[in-house]
Amino acid sequence: MEELQKAAKVAFSTTFSYYLKAHNFHWNVEGSDFLEYHDLFGKIYEEVYGAIDDFAEKIRALGTYVPGSFSRFSMLTQVEDEVNILPKEQMVAELLQDNEKIIKLLKLVFKISEEYNEFGFRDFIAGRIDAHSKHGWMLRASLRSD
Ligand SMILES: [Fe+2]
Repeated sequence: MEELQKAAKVAFSTTFSYYLKAHNFHWNVEGSDFLEYHDLFGKIYEEVYGAIDDFAEKIRALGTYVPGSFSRFSMLTQVEDEVNILPKEQMVAELLQDNEKIIKLLKLVFKISEEYNEFGFRDFIAGRIDAHSKHGWMLRASLRSD
């Protein structure tokens, strides 16, 4: 069970960092097509934010505490913090790369959940994999040059 709790905390902390980065990009993006990017990042951060509370409480239900501070998140997250204001295409590319890391982590958590017969948690994680696959599609589609 400890293996599942640990992997879940890493996936959760990484998800939170990704949420924060999408929100940061939503605030700070600039350029002639500002509104499109502002809305794209907006859609992503809102979707992830909508799942954060449920994710945290499901980890509590696994019988462990959930990370909830910047220092714990930075210890556990698998994505790099971004302190620079990037050009919009780089914001999209970086978020896409982070999103792929999250999908990998979530797939690992899915597999471990199954091993521990935590089927409810596994199903929640499956929903998160679907949601992040959709983010991947939106981010990739906006990177395509005309
Ligand atoms: Fe906003």
